[in-house]
Amino acid sequence: MNEPNLAVDFAGIKLKNPVLTASGTFGFGREYSRLWDLNLLGGIIVKAVTLEPRLGNPPPRIAETPAGILNSIGLQNPGVVSFIRDYLPFLRQYEDLPVIVNIAGNTIEDYARVAEKLSNAEGISALEVNISCPNVKQGGLAFGTDPESAYQVIEAVKANTDLPVIAKLSPNVTDITEIALSVEEAGADGISLINTLLGMAIDINSWQPILSNVVGGLSGPAVKPIAVRMVWQTAQKVSIPILGMGGIATAEDGIEFMLAGAKAIAVGTANFFNPYAAPEIVAGLKRYLKEKNIEDVNQLCGALRFTKNN
Ligand SMILES: Cc1cc2nc3c(=O)[nH]c(=O)nc-3n(C[C@H](O)[C@H](O)[C@H](O)COP(=O)(O)O)c2cc1C
Repeated sequence: MNEPNLAVDFAGIKLKNPVLTASGTFGFGREYSRLWDLNLLGGIIVKAVTLEPRLGNPPPRIAETPAGILNSIGLQNPGVVSFIRDYLPFLRQYEDLPVIVNIAGNTIEDYARVAEKLSNAEGISALEVNISCPNVKQGGLAFGTDPESAYQVIEAVKANTDLPVIAKLSPNVTDITEIALSVEEAGADGISLINTLLGMAIDINSWQPILSNVVGGLSGPAVKPIAVRMVWQTAQKVSIPILGMGGIATAEDGIEFMLAGAKAIAVGTANFFNPYAAPEIVAGLKRYLKEKNIEDVNQLCGALRFTKNN
């Protein structure tokens, strides 16, 4: 058999393989670039970038849990101006590495202005809009938990960029498809899911919360079945492509997401316990396709079966 095709087209972005790194778990790529060639990736999604620099929450910001981690980093980042000046040039050295920039803000205007600034920079393939942020003007309820607010953020970002816009959804909702349909209607070119699930951990000696922020986002293998379920439910309803993530640590995990309907996948928390996870997943995906005699990775997308016919 010839080498299987690993290339996918995601929302107009040509990816040489469907494996990306999830926002906030891979920094701006520099640390991992010392371990392996970032060109092995389908693409990189960088840490959330905001209008102004942010220090994030005070420590402790990470708590380990049996099958994942809780984090409350609080969007620490150097701000959009420094990102473009000090971090983007490094990534642009990689000719074959689409760079997707995750953006965040406290108001719709924040998102719009960050989107505009990034659109004027060279070397960015798409924007991923983190709508899990609190909407300061509407009492701090996350944009991503209300279909109307989610719509407004995506509409404003679309109006300020020509880049493809990927809406990154929060799983902290009752019906994920309601939000997905809303961002699709607002013009999103793709959907990333899932972001972290709200959780909490308590120190039973001090009787205090472990995280300084009290609550944090749960990620890692523990969340995978929830993420696969949400990808599958969403894929039934929308026609824009889905970038699946949540607990992916092996090629087999990623294949589950693709069968559920994801066109591409992102590796997050696994980067922390196995810094080679992403390139291993690319290799594992190729091996799987060869073993199963599948010529094209796109054949996996949404191929879930409900009958026992093999
Ligand atoms: C330490 C940490 C920081 C994160 N920062 C961001 C962020 O800045 N923006 C964002 O949209 N998601 C962020 N995420 C969420 C991840 O990109 C991903 O959606 C989530 O962790 C689920 O995938 P995983 O289980 O593979 O980590 C962060 C996750 C972790 C663990």
